[in-house]
Amino acid sequence: MGTTVILGAGGRLGAALAREWSAAGETVLALDRHALSLGDFAMVKRVLGSLDFDALVNCAALTNVDYCEGHREEALLINGEAAGIVADVCEQKGARCIHISTDYVFDGLSSRPYVEEDVPLPVSVYGASKLAGERAVLTAGANHWAVRVSWVFGPDRPSFVDQIVTRALKEESVAAVADKWATPTYTLDAATLLRPLLREVSGGGVVHLSNTGVCSWQEYGQWALDCSGEFGLPLKARTVGAQGMSDIKAFIAKRPPFTVLNVSKLAGLTGQQPRPWREAVRSYLRSQCELGVWSS
Ligand SMILES: NC(=O)c1ccc[n+]([C@@H]2O[C@H](COP(=O)([O-])OP(=O)(O)OC[C@H]3O[C@@H](n4cnc5c(N)ncnc54)[C@H](OP(=O)(O)O)[C@@H]3O)[C@@H](O)[C@H]2O)c1
Repeated sequence: MGTTVILGAGGRLGAALAREWSAAGETVLALDRHALSLGDFAMVKRVLGSLDFDALVNCAALTNVDYCEGHREEALLINGEAAGIVADVCEQKGARCIHISTDYVFDGLSSRPYVEEDVPLPVSVYGASKLAGERAVLTAGANHWAVRVSWVFGPDRPSFVDQIVTRALKEESVAAVADKWATPTYTLDAATLLRPLLREVSGGGVVHLSNTGVCSWQEYGQWALDCSGEFGLPLKARTVGAQGMSDIKAFIAKRPPFTVLNVSKLAGLTGQQPRPWREAVRSYLRSQCELGVWSS
């Protein structure tokens, strides 16, 4: 077995991959932003150049969509140009680069789940910067993968699902956006689904990865409250009200309304079918409740 470098190992997905793969016997070199800062290209080349590895997963990115909207140059540098430099180093070493990308490369106007061949048309700086990263990675060599994920959740950093439960424990009424749809992606499931791409699957290109099904943020939140109520949390709010995207004044960047990803290609490549998002969310909330994450 080879050695896998994980960039962004302090983040939600990177930390989960590092822990899960190490536990499964993989040799993992987990680098957070202190060990490797993507904005420092000389450091990227020096640090990666000094390591011996045959696969790298780049989970590091500027992920705050609204921050990116006001910091276009920085977003393009970190999410775009630096991603290409990472892939170039991988190519020179004969290592495979798996670059984590996003459903936000699409404009969200489709009426069916997006397939990998659909033309990306980002509506935000974040989406454009991530698309630039994908293109730079795929230009670096034929054996690299750009893996698009959506609505990532898991135990290593809170996301929407944790926030809605935390709010429902404190407030009598909660609401979430009802006119935006995608599919949640559980980081622990992503660890299993991604692993064959490290070495077993040949080739390269774009591939979509998420749990299956579709939901709005409101439906996602409602399911989170249904499950956590069942697992015994003393929720003050049990129903998630509906908001429109236009009601959220804090949104600076435009969001694509429908970005469900078709994951058939991944299933064909790896022989693994992702589980439905409701099962994944339920499993996550059960383990968080068992760990006492919300117990005071
Ligand atoms: N979260 C989602 O819902 C979602 C949806 C679609 C796609 N994605 C993609 O999935 C990947 C993983 O996302 P995530 O949810 O794990 O996000 P995350 O928790 O924000 O992790 C990103 C990591 O990148 C690090 N980072 C930021 N700037 C860096 C720099 N200049 N140099 C080195 N590291 C840097 C961050 O460090 P700090 O912790 O210090 O900030 C963080 O640890 C990203 O490529 C993202 O675009 C995420």
